[in-house]
Amino acid sequence: MRHVMVLNSKGGCGKSTLATNVAVFFAREGLEVCIADYDPQRSSLDWLAQRPPDLPAIRGVPAFEEGIRNVPRGTEVLVIDAPARVHGTELNELVRRAETILIPVLPSSIDMKACAHFMEELLEIGKVSRKQARLGLIANRVREHTLIFEELDQYLSKLKVPYLGSLREAQNYVRAYARGMGVLELPEYLAWPDWQQWQPICEWLDSKRSQPQP
Ligand SMILES: Nc1ncnc2c1ncn2[C@@H]1O[C@H](COP(=O)(O)OP(=O)(O)O)[C@@H](O)[C@H]1O
Ligand SMILES: [Mg+2]
Repeated sequence: MRHVMVLNSKGGCGKSTLATNVAVFFAREGLEVCIADYDPQRSSLDWLAQRPPDLPAIRGVPAFEEGIRNVPRGTEVLVIDAPARVHGTELNELVRRAETILIPVLPSSIDMKACAHFMEELLEIGKVSRKQARLGLIANRVREHTLIFEELDQYLSKLKVPYLGSLREAQNYVRAYARGMGVLELPEYLAWPDWQQWQPICEWLDSKRSQPQP
């Protein structure tokens, strides 16, 4: 079973939004997907409760309560939605559970500064420094041609972690969340710019670059 985690100690940077969309990506590939929601705010589980029955099924477990022991048998991809404010031992424990870690970052000074501290802590964790977990950075809620996005873009490019791409600020994410869907499931005429932005992220997730080599 693959374990793909969306992680950043900063709240509101798009962890749950990313986790739900990543779950949809794998489910559309015909894989058995389960979301482990480690956040007592339950954003991923609330999203799942709205999922239309005619779309590829995704399971969910309240990992903040019971861990991942009740993940259904046959699950091929476990998408882990992490809570905010994780540091120290708790961060170590979480990182132990994943080989692929996506890190969303917002174009804001506060978030970039918080990200710098977080990356420092993350890169010191043994599993990460030994490359037993592969990290990928994603700029989220981006407005192109803004100064702050340029700053974020440059900042993320300089970190020693793959920078997978950016996702625009779009109502499509809000809409899709409310309907239990991913942007990949919205109609093309509405969501084609988002589909384009997801492409490099999906390619990375499908490639060996996102998985530690045995
Ligand atoms: N790309 C995006 N475009 C528009 N709104 C977004 C985007 N990503 C996240 N959001 C919104 O930002 C807020 C925080 O996102 P969320 O996924 O809940 O973050 P986290 O799980 O890190 O706290 C939510 O209201 C969500 O709908
Ligand atoms: Mg969340």
